[in-house]
Amino acid sequence: MEQMVYIVSVVFTCLALLIIPVIIITRRLSVHLSFKNILRFIKLVASQLDDEEENNEESGTIGEEDKRRRLPKHVAIILDGNRRWAEKRGLGTSEGHQAGARRLIENAKDCFAMGINTVSLFAFSTENWARPEDEVNGLMALFEKHLRSEMAFFRSDKIKISVIGNRTKISQSLLGLITEAEEATKNYEEKHLIIAIDYSGRFDILQACKSLAEKAKNGLIQVEDIDEDVMEKELMTNCSEFPNPDLLIRTSGEQRISNFFLWQSAYTELYFPNVLWPDFGEAEYLEALTWYQQRQRRFGLRV
Ligand SMILES: *[C@@H]1O[C@H](CO)[C@@H](O)[C@H](O)[C@H]1NC(C)=O
Ligand SMILES: *[C@@H]1O[C@H](CO)[C@@H](O)[C@H](O)[C@H]1NC(C)=O
Repeated sequence: MEQMVYIVSVVFTCLALLIIPVIIITRRLSVHLSFKNILRFIKLVASQLDDEEENNEESGTIGEEDKRRRLPKHVAIILDGNRRWAEKRGLGTSEGHQAGARRLIENAKDCFAMGINTVSLFAFSTENWARPEDEVNGLMALFEKHLRSEMAFFRSDKIKISVIGNRTKISQSLLGLITEAEEATKNYEEKHLIIAIDYSGRFDILQACKSLAEKAKNGLIQVEDIDEDVMEKELMTNCSEFPNPDLLIRTSGEQRISNFFLWQSAYTELYFPNVLWPDFGEAEYLEALTWYQQRQRRFGLRV
């Protein structure tokens, strides 16, 4: 009898030791505490720990296998579906965009909390200028509002902000805020939020070509020396330590890159969930990461 009590108490202690950290971690990430999520989270953390151990064993010679099993270093997101989300609920377009913006901030925070240190957002494409004036103005106002309200968070969490794209049409007030945010966060090195406004992949490649041509004309560079590395340094993503995304997520079921990162996504895993962006919550996000890890295991052999 005494032995039974002993065994039961040992089993309970072990369970408590496992469950308490999981509860604390999921609370911090504000992930809903369902059994499925806990399991997913344990899997993610376990595979990260695996990687760390293997890296520690043989630092400097990280094998392909280890690289594949990691969390992505850079996640790029095309947020799509705000308008359809609003329509389905009988709401106005602007309410859809507001819900999308709130979701965007939550998801970016989750990313950083999980240890994904570079996040880029295709927030406004060059083609988006063609939308109704009201909608464009509303979106620009949203950028201003959130850049302003999240500034304290960027600072406290040491997140570097970079805005990429063609800045000519952006209003003076938004430009001022962008410059301020970039200036205030430029020395942070670990976490990086890249916001693409009036960005287009072709535009990026073109401006890089023009810059290289200019340098060649002025004798600053030899044509023979132009290679992928040199090109990469001219692209707007040169602001990041990890310029090429490992995982690109586009919500709402559309399966197109739509002129986002063209050069940069040559080897990116592409994930197209059917949910509309404002519905893309923590559970969907964890699902994307789990998909990525499985994908990496199965199709990792690439050059
Ligand atoms: C940036 O946008 C402006 C306004 O649409 C356009 O005139 C300009 O050509 C663009 N810049 C580049 C380098 O394409
Ligand atoms: C990155 O590219 C921009 C042009 O897009 C250029 O002005 C800047 O100097 C480059 N930065 C680095 C570190 O090469």
